[in-house]
Amino acid sequence: MYLPLLFIFSLFFISSQGAVQDFCVADLSLPNGPAGYSCKKSAKVTENDFVYHGLSIAGNTTNIIKAAVTPGFDAQFPGVNGLGISIARLDLAVGGVIPFHTHPGASEILVVIQGTIYAGFISSFDNVVYLKTLNKGDVMVFPQGLLHFQVNPSKIPAIAFASFSSANPGLQITDFAFFKNDLPTELLAETSFLDVAQIKKLKGVLGGTN
Ligand SMILES: *[C@@H]1O[C@H](CO)[C@@H](O)[C@H](O)[C@H]1NC(C)=O
Repeated sequence: MYLPLLFIFSLFFISSQGAVQDFCVADLSLPNGPAGYSCKKSAKVTENDFVYHGLSIAGNTTNIIKAAVTPGFDAQFPGVNGLGISIARLDLAVGGVIPFHTHPGASEILVVIQGTIYAGFISSFDNVVYLKTLNKGDVMVFPQGLLHFQVNPSKIPAIAFASFSSANPGLQITDFAFFKNDLPTELLAETSFLDVAQIKKLKGVLGGTN
């Protein structure tokens, strides 16, 4: 008798504590942190906070990589804040390249919508390379933090969508990290074993100095 009563009481207690936070739409006027943005006051939340139109438009691929990544992370899409998910659109013109990059905060799952994408990542444990040609409808995962790339090897533009296991996956493009800042060339040569001439060339292309 006692145990069932306790059980029922526990259930009641749990459900009466059921003030579950349904969502935490980002208040973009406040800073982002490890736990995401602060929550917008629920009275101010509307359906528009849960809908993002940014991915309906093709990214501008007139650039050095002939490709564009359009993010739908918490900063662009406040509704994903706190949910541990986000999304992005990839447009790759003919010859387009999303250069080697990592998402420090998330794994990625990519689905090809149009064209062909040649994608790969490198394991951190033993530097094994995993490469695959992906056609329309194919899906590939890129484990959190690992270096990966996507290129368009075909004669038509490629489109893909990527989902992430974080509202704020982060994006660090390796070449930009190396060559698009004021890290001294000598130090970069010493620490990367790259030639000074190659470093200066890439700093010139990407806008780095020193
Ligand atoms: C795409 O970017 C290029 C280079 O910045 C620019 O000249 C062009 O106007 C842009 N196109 C569109 C449609 O925004």
